Amino acid sequence: MARVSSDHEHFSSRWTFILAAVGSAVGLGNIWKFPYEAGQGGGGAFVLVYLGFVFLIGVPVMIGELAIGRRGQSSPPIAVANLAFEEGRSVFWSILGWMGVLGAFLVLSFYSVIAGWTLDYIFKTVIGVTGQVTAETSGEVFGGLLASWERMAAWHFLFIAMTVFIIARGVTSGIEQAVTYLMPALFVLLIILVAYALVAGEARQAMLFLFQPDFSKLTPNVVIQALGQAFFSLSLGLGAVMIYGSYLPKSVSIPRSAVIIGAADTVVALLAGLAIFPLVFAYNLDVGSGPGLIFETLPIAFAQMPGGSIFGFLFFTLLTVAAITSSISMMEPMVSYLQERHYVKRVKAAIGVGIAAFVFGLGTVFSFNIWADVKLFDRTFFDTLDFVTNNLLMPLGGLLVALFVGWAMRFASVREELSSVSDGFFARIYGLLSVVCPIALVLVFLNVAGLLSFG
Ligand code: PHE
Repeated sequence: MARVSSDHEHFSSRWTFILAAVGSAVGLGNIWKFPYEAGQGGGGAFVLVYLGFVFLIGVPVMIGELAIGRRGQSSPPIAVANLAFEEGRSVFWSILGWMGVLGAFLVLSFYSVIAGWTLDYIFKTVIGVTGQVTAETSGEVFGGLLASWERMAAWHFLFIAMTVFIIARGVTSGIEQAVTYLMPALFVLLIILVAYALVAGEARQAMLFLFQPDFSKLTPNVVIQALGQAFFSLSLGLGAVMIYGSYLPKSVSIPRSAVIIGAADTVVALLAGLAIFPLVFAYNLDVGSGPGLIFETLPIAFAQMPGGSIFGFLFFTLLTVAAITSSISMMEPMVSYLQERHYVKRVKAAIGVGIAAFVFGLGTVFSFNIWADVKLFDRTFFDTLDFVTNNLLMPLGGLLVALFVGWAMRFASVREELSSVSDGFFARIYGLLSVVCPIALVLVFLNVAGLLSFG
C-alpha cells in the first residue's frame, strides 16, 4: 500500500467527490465546444461517435486515472512515482504525472481567457449591449472584444483571481465548498434554459439534428475531433482526475463513480445542445458557425426573443459557473505538487500558479489581436496550445494511463484498487483499458501525425 502523507487532504464524502469531479468535467467543453463541434461535424453522427468514445475509452481511462491517484496518494508526479516504485517499475513513468501537471497548467492559461469572454458577455447583457445586436452587428460586437487585448486581459485576470481564491482555501473548504453551491446552481440554470429553448424554439428540428445520424458527414477528421472532445470533456490525461482521485476516500467505488461522472457529463453536453440548437434553428442561424456559435450566433437569437436578455444573462452565468468548477481542477495538480513536495504554503502556491497562468495566458489573449499574424506552422499561439494539449498531451496522457494500469501495474494491485465491482465487470474494464484504449489511441496518433504532414 502506498504511503499516505499525513497532510494529504480527502473529500468528506462520496457525494462531494462526485460533485467536484462532475464539476471538473462539466465546463466550457460541454457548453461551448460540444455544441459547435457537433454543429460543424454534422450533428447526430458526431454525437453517436462521441458517445461511443466516452463510454468505451473515456470512462475506462478515467477509472485508471482515479485508481493511480488514490493508490499513489499524492500530486500526480509523486503519485505515479510512488506506484512505479511499489510495482518495481522504472521511475521514468512519473513523466505521466509531469505531463499532467504541465498540461493542466497550459489548458488553464487559455481556458481562463475564454472564460473571460463569458464574463464579458454577462457584463454585456447587464448593460444591454447584447439586447440590441442583429445578424449584422453581432460579429462586430464579438470582434470588438477580440480586438481589445486590454479588455480580454482584464477578464482573464478576474477569472484567474476567482480560481486562485477557491484553490487557496484548500480541498475541503475551497473546492468542496465551491462545488456544493455551484453545481446545484448549474443544474437549475441548465434546466431552466433547456425548458425555455424547447418551448420557444424549434425543438423538433434540434432533436433531429442531434439524434439522427447522417453518416455521410463522418470523416476521419470528425472521428478524431470526437475523441479529442471526449478526453477534453471528461478532463482526462491532465492529472486533474488523478489529483481528485488522490483525495478520494478508500470506501468509494471508483468504477461506479466514473460511470456516473461520464454519464452526467454527457447528459450536460446534450442538454447544452438542447438549450442552444432550438434557438439557432428558430432564428435561421448557422449551426456550423464554429467557436463563435455561442458568442456571435446565439446572441442574435437572444436579442429577438421575448425575455432574451434574461435568458442571455442566465446562459452566460451558467457558462461561467461551469468554467470555474473546471478551472479549479486544472490549478490543483500544480498547487498540490508545490505544497507537498516543496513545502510552499497553499495560499502562496495558488497565487504563484495564478500569476504564471495569467502571464502565460497573455499569449492567448494576444493571439486574437496584436499577435494574430505571429504563426508557427500556420497556427497562432492559441491554436498551437489548443492543438498541443487537445491532440497530443491529453491522448498521450490517456495512453500512458492505460499502459501503466493495464501493463505496468500488477494485476492484483489493480484488482485490489477496483475491488468494489464483480469479476465480470472488472474483466470488461481491464480489457478496455489494457487492450482497446491503447490500440484506439495509437490509431489516433497515427492519424494526427498524418494530419500534421498532409495538412
Ligand atoms: N472538462 C473540462 C470542460 O469540459 C475541461 C478540463 C480539461 C478540465 C482538462 C480539467 C482538465 O470544460
